[in-house]
Amino acid sequence: MSSQLTILGIETSCDETAAAVVLRDASGKGKILGEVVLSQLEEHSAYGGVVPEIAARAHVEALDSLISEALLRAGKSLADVDAIAATSGPGLSGGLIVGLMPGKAIARATGKPLYAVNHLEGHALTARLTDGLAFPYLLLLVSGGHTQLILVKGVGDYERWGTTIDDALGEAFDKTAKLLGLPYPGGPAVERAARAGDPKRFAFPRPMVGEARLDFSFSGLKTAVRQAAEFIAPVTDHDIADICASFQNAVSRTLKDRVGRGLTRFRERFPDATEPALVVAGGVAANSEVRSTLQAICDAGKFRFVAPPMSLCTDNAAMIAWAGLERMAEGLGPDDLTVAPRSRWPLDSEAVALFGSGKRGAKA
Ligand code: KG4
Ligand code: ZN
Repeated sequence: MSSQLTILGIETSCDETAAAVVLRDASGKGKILGEVVLSQLEEHSAYGGVVPEIAARAHVEALDSLISEALLRAGKSLADVDAIAATSGPGLSGGLIVGLMPGKAIARATGKPLYAVNHLEGHALTARLTDGLAFPYLLLLVSGGHTQLILVKGVGDYERWGTTIDDALGEAFDKTAKLLGLPYPGGPAVERAARAGDPKRFAFPRPMVGEARLDFSFSGLKTAVRQAAEFIAPVTDHDIADICASFQNAVSRTLKDRVGRGLTRFRERFPDATEPALVVAGGVAANSEVRSTLQAICDAGKFRFVAPPMSLCTDNAAMIAWAGLERMAEGLGPDDLTVAPRSRWPLDSEAVALFGSGKRGAKA
């Protein structure tokens, strides 16, 4: 299929309600025509985490007007779009239902095809929307719900090379912040505190470092942080800064080893790749130490490092729309209107579920 396509995307899998209208031109280039994201951060911050019922209700209240707003910003009406794409998993069931149902309703009312999109596929393909990246490439997805290293071979064609066996990296940041009394979400708070700290004061563990398999583990690191804080209690601001800096240092060292091995495996698998690339996605990609670590690994391994703009690294509907467009262009779909949300939906159907991964891992 080579003609120009326009699609309306809807995202409601976690705590962002989002709608976007995205275009794919005949040459395969993407353009976001209009998009809007409403974060529910404030609704959840009092609870120190995402509350599924509150999230679903907030999506219901906001979605209609967000869809209208995205169309307005794009200067389009529903009649102008060629299809509807809605996240149908993985994620919180309530949120998925209240996003997929309107998607189906619009598809039914307009007679346009529906694409039920895997949220992880949205993250995985974003770099093609922003940077026109060619397959294959390696993706590091580091969010509150996932820590995965994924080989992206093509649309609908993924190999999961590594995942966390316990906590996601964002979760480790959030839990570290919580036990130090820092605000939610913890990632930005830990990063801020770490700036004034000594990264060498605490020798925290670097889980999985040296192992040949490419999985991650962060719960031991979190426990070590707790023990250190208890040992020196009562902690001062100075101690908190040192703990945060040492925590980030351990995270960087761990990423360096895990992702570094991933790059080596990529080279072995694709020795002729002319421009091998590593893409990062997910909220933790906002962390400047994580970014500079990944940049350094890529420089050393002669990989291109692609970090899409933060607004497209975190949850948004443009990536869902784009994944729908990519599927459409490949002739993959559309989906039947009986399609059901899937709170668990691995990108790589061959990948075994690892114990512990996905406690919050239903989302990314
Ligand atoms: O992808 P995302 O926005 O949402 C989902 O997980 O769905 O990721 C949120 C996660 C949270 O765990 C948050 O603490 C973390 O990303 N995060 C950060 C930073 N900003 C957000 N972690 C480390 N450093 C940051 N600057
Ligand atoms: Zn996500």
